Amino acid sequence: MILLETERLLFRQQELRDIDAYCAMEMDPDVRRYVGGKPRTREEAENRFLPGLVRAPNNLAMWATIYKPENKYVGRCGIYPHFDKDGSPIAGEASLGLYIAKPYWSRGFATEAGRAFIEFGFNKLDIQRIVTSIQAGNDASIRVIEKLGFTQEYFEQGEYRSFYHYEIKKT
Ligand SMILES: CC(C)(COP(=O)(O)OP(=O)(O)OC[C@H]1O[C@@H](n2cnc3c(N)ncnc32)[C@H](O)[C@@H]1OP(=O)(O)O)[C@@H](O)C(=O)NCCC(=O)NCCS
Repeated sequence: MILLETERLLFRQQELRDIDAYCAMEMDPDVRRYVGGKPRTREEAENRFLPGLVRAPNNLAMWATIYKPENKYVGRCGIYPHFDKDGSPIAGEASLGLYIAKPYWSRGFATEAGRAFIEFGFNKLDIQRIVTSIQAGNDASIRVIEKLGFTQEYFEQGEYRSFYHYEIKKT
């Protein structure tokens, strides 16, 4: 099932045939550097992949991201529920997630995907606010988020890791 298409990308439900490409990303230390810190093993990656085969009821999920000219899985992108401190989803809000496989970095894919999901959230899902948190040092991600029009809400200094919290509101 295809959710959305942009000029170069399409976003569809994750399928079993994506497992090798998914695991390769999760096992790549450069992809994981600022999202978790260390690469996953193949077994850990597979265990995370399998629940993603079940479709989220409200389309708030991460989607297999396919580069159309090569029909290749190049990442996972989407907006998913934004949870409050008690773990309840906040109505009218979502979090943006962008993960692109390293061979495809710096071709504008994350920016293209982010733009599509902001438009989708605001205009198709009646989302009013989208947030994202970026670990300090993840300068490529900060660049993408600022290109997309997010503004920094606050900085969270941690003992081992610190995060910039960004938001964009529907106008
Ligand atoms: C962050 C990530 C999603 C960016 O994806 P991408 O498809 O390469 O992003 P784009 O090509 O759309 O844009 C990247 C921008 O960052 C810039 N950039 C790349 N590396 C950079 C760096 N080290 N410092 C500053 N800017 C950098 C690029 O030049 C480009 O900006 P430009 O268009 O002004 O030239 C990708 O690197 C990734 O998946 N990383 C691992 C997972 C991750 O950290 N996800 C984000 C979680 S918050």
